[in-house]
Amino acid sequence: MPATGEAARPQPMSPSAADLSTATVTVLGIETSCDETAASVVRLGPEGSVVLSSIIDSQIAKHAPFGGVVPEIAARAHVEAIDHVIRAAMDEAGLGYGDLDGVAATAGPGLVGGVMVGLSAGKAIALARGLPLMAVNHLEGHAVSARLEADVAYPFLLLLTSGGHCQLLDVAGIGQCKRLGTTIDDAAGEAFDKIAKTMGLPYPGGPALERLAEGGDPHRYPLPRALLGRQDCDFSFSGLKTAAARIAVTLTTEDERRDLAAAVQGAIARQLTARTERAMALHGQDRDPKDRRFVVAGGVAANGTVRAALLAACEKQGYSFAAPPLRYCTDNAAMIALAGAERLLLGLTDPLDVAARPRWPLDEAMAASNPIHKPSRKGAKA
Ligand code: KG4
Ligand code: ZN
Repeated sequence: MPATGEAARPQPMSPSAADLSTATVTVLGIETSCDETAASVVRLGPEGSVVLSSIIDSQIAKHAPFGGVVPEIAARAHVEAIDHVIRAAMDEAGLGYGDLDGVAATAGPGLVGGVMVGLSAGKAIALARGLPLMAVNHLEGHAVSARLEADVAYPFLLLLTSGGHCQLLDVAGIGQCKRLGTTIDDAAGEAFDKIAKTMGLPYPGGPALERLAEGGDPHRYPLPRALLGRQDCDFSFSGLKTAAARIAVTLTTEDERRDLAAAVQGAIARQLTARTERAMALHGQDRDPKDRRFVVAGGVAANGTVRAALLAACEKQGYSFAAPPLRYCTDNAAMIALAGAERLLLGLTDPLDVAARPRWPLDEAMAASNPIHKPSRKGAKA
């Protein structure tokens, strides 16, 4: 059954309406779906977007002793941080609530206890100040993150690769995403994190593994290639995770650890790139060459080896390459504010009773027809 408010969710009028708009809007964005409490003010107008402030209060130190995000700790920490993070974002922007045109908050997917904290704060400000509310899908935030202070037009092919998600999407405009492929088990960031943990590296594992891999030999340890018999754009990282864990327990020297880290990073980059090239081959043919744009977003887009491999693939396939600056790859509220501002310009606002959604696929039609994603606790997490 659809959650409250879902049925009323308005649909976009046209993919390019935001680009045609001459209005300028200033939007407060709030992000609390995982382990970062974040708030940001973004101004969007005909000249593009400007980030007036971006505050991120990370909970990494609170979760590090447990080797991963603990939902109850996260929700409590969001409650403690949310007020001062929003205050700091408004102060850094030098604005009062009267200067805002709308409030955007992540409404899912994510850890629902945290999502409810940020969404409730957004609703409270919207109600108190009589502002429109935009309930933003966290993945839509990542999808627009490369458009922050940069000239990246729609449509584009998007590789969204983070700790919770790994998908290839055809993005025609805000609210207009078609999923081309997804992971059948773990997300790439999750694979980085779990393999790093088996190698004794601190949380979050992705950046730690990238540092360890520096100067390592990626060919010393052969690792399995996933889904070799398939011709689709889906991902799988569980075989890689098991193989790496088996090797990790046999290692004795720092050199060996460095080489395994390099091999793991190389294998993840190779799979992300291979599926991206497949998506380009399958879906790029009938695309005007000027619309052959590729965007990579999400925490794993911060990885240098992954970025370099994807850039090389773009050069080979005749696609332009865009990635957000590193500070907007991992979770932040500027991307939520921008998605909210684009929605506001399209008239896509939400009622104040809109519900938090722990699971919320970007391409709802595809998710409903594809058994990889069931609206239950079963199926791929990402
Ligand atoms: O987008 P994000 O901040 O949160 C989610 O929405 O999941 O992504 C976090 C993920 C974590 O799995 C983290 O290990 C990974 O992104 N990550 C990296 C790097 N920086 C962050 N993975 C590989 N290399 C990095 N430099
Ligand atoms: Zn994220």
